[in-house]
Amino acid sequence: MEVVITSGAQESARLAADAVEQLLARKPDAVLGLATGSTPLPTYDELVRRHEAGQVSFARARGFTLDEYIGLPADHPQRYRNVIDRELVGRVDFASDAVTGPDGLAEDLQAAAEAYERAIAAAGGVDLQILGIGTNGHIAFNEPGSSLASRTRVQPLAPQTRTDNARFFEDDVEAVPRLCFTQGLGTIMEARHLVLIATGEGKAAAVQQLVEGPVSARWPATVMQHHPHATVLLDEAAASRLELADYYREAYAAKPEWQGI
Ligand code: F6R
Repeated sequence: MEVVITSGAQESARLAADAVEQLLARKPDAVLGLATGSTPLPTYDELVRRHEAGQVSFARARGFTLDEYIGLPADHPQRYRNVIDRELVGRVDFASDAVTGPDGLAEDLQAAAEAYERAIAAAGGVDLQILGIGTNGHIAFNEPGSSLASRTRVQPLAPQTRTDNARFFEDDVEAVPRLCFTQGLGTIMEARHLVLIATGEGKAAAVQQLVEGPVSARWPATVMQHHPHATVLLDEAAASRLELADYYREAYAAKPEWQGI
């Protein structure tokens, strides 16, 4: 796992956008894994800026979102399908239907979860997965206790996550759905490159576990320690509890630039 401590959210966004741009330059039909939530927004803004400058095209790319609330009406602004359309897909040149997400309104939720797994596999798997992390250590909505081998499934949201996400629902925790679809940890681990971004003091405890804690379902993101190509982009606040922060800084400074992240 490579830990990069950046000067802040903008530099993290630039580095994540560099990885996406370089991937699409060498593989225009790459498959992107797209997180929602607030953390990736500067990265999406940066990708939109580069697209408008003619630097990057998504015309042949495909995308899969990580998770979805179950039961939100189709036109609800916080439905992740709508969030990703608003924040990225509708602002660049993805082909129509190139980006899909789990169907939170499916009648047969289990069948929809299995269909989602099949769709990812049929696309050849995810080349680059953008991730955020919950304050409780979740990635996607794999809450504490999730099997490290889990697949796409229906999962109850942890009380901590519903509290954290109430800010997207006018601070009304009761408006946050109780159930969600999430890609499993086993599903996410099959992506060829994981790029996790964390910003702010609120993520410091989860980041400490992610990078330096024991691998455990208690902190689901720790499964990433087993991934052969995982990059963690942190601002100073998110990195503030890392015991080996100075070492990560030195290691990154010494890295040949051509290697990228
Ligand atoms: C959202 C997702 C979640 C978020 C996490 C952090 O698709 O997968 O794991 O990344 O809850 O959310 P923010 O970025 O809003 O702090």
